[in-house]
Amino acid sequence: MHRFSAKPYLQRVWADFGNEVGFDDFPFNIPAVRELQSIEFHADVTFFVGENGSGKSTMLEAIALALGFGIEGGTLNNRLLNTSGEHTRLADHIRMSRSTRRPSDGYFLRAESFYNLATYLDQMPQTTGYGGKQLHARSHGEAFMSVLLDKFRGNGLYLLDEPEAALSPTRQLAALRAMHQLVQDQSQFIIVTHSPILLAYPGAKILAFDGNGIAEIAYEDTEHYAVTRDFLNHYPRRLEQLLAPD
Ligand SMILES: Nc1ncnc2c1ncn2[C@@H]1O[C@H](COP(=O)(O)OP(=O)(O)OP(=O)(O)O)[C@@H](O)[C@H]1O
Ligand SMILES: [Mg+2]
Repeated sequence: MHRFSAKPYLQRVWADFGNEVGFDDFPFNIPAVRELQSIEFHADVTFFVGENGSGKSTMLEAIALALGFGIEGGTLNNRLLNTSGEHTRLADHIRMSRSTRRPSDGYFLRAESFYNLATYLDQMPQTTGYGGKQLHARSHGEAFMSVLLDKFRGNGLYLLDEPEAALSPTRQLAALRAMHQLVQDQSQFIIVTHSPILLAYPGAKILAFDGNGIAEIAYEDTEHYAVTRDFLNHYPRRLEQLLAPD
């Protein structure tokens, strides 16, 4: 039977900067923000990649806020802090088009504030869906995997900022498998990552952030793939070159 797909839940984001934004000030001074026109999302997985400081987290955060997530991450119901000040500046100046069918699940996972979020979730008596064990009784990677495996229910829109930060290479492979199951279960992911393993997700759209803005790039053309592959294939030589005295 043909099933109508609601995906992508988030179809497109575009800039609505008007005249009042100041391109000398954060976050509009970041090239990827300043040059933003629109971002089209893949129905399954869209990655943001780019150098440290290129604006990936800033963009993901703005999208999350515009969707109604709290700045600290979590489900749409987790609001730890007021969302005010500079963080909302970009969120207030983007517009989005969404599927008429809303996802029934959603999560904004921030590597930087996962500890705070875990504390908050552990303190809520009604928290369920983390495998029946407190998140703080698990290691960082175990807690992350438990959120991915036990908390994400499918039919979801998931925004993840560097999920690999907690994960061993083997767990990153397990995360790919968990993502794939969720994608087949009508989920959409938007993921900021530096992981050449996660980026290999088949058919994903990879958007590279740099000084000129945001552009789509093929997996094998990413620095993540090329540099990692080159280093692993030639590491004794590369180390000699890197560590040679000036
Ligand atoms: N609150 C802030 N005020 C001023 N500048 C900021 C603020 N937060 C971030 N920036 C700057 O904005 C730029 C983009 O930061 P962002 O965190 O989005 O980078 P990123 O691409 O996620 O990098 P990384 O890969 O290191 O996580 C950086 O140059 C950063 O220093
Ligand atoms: Mg970041």
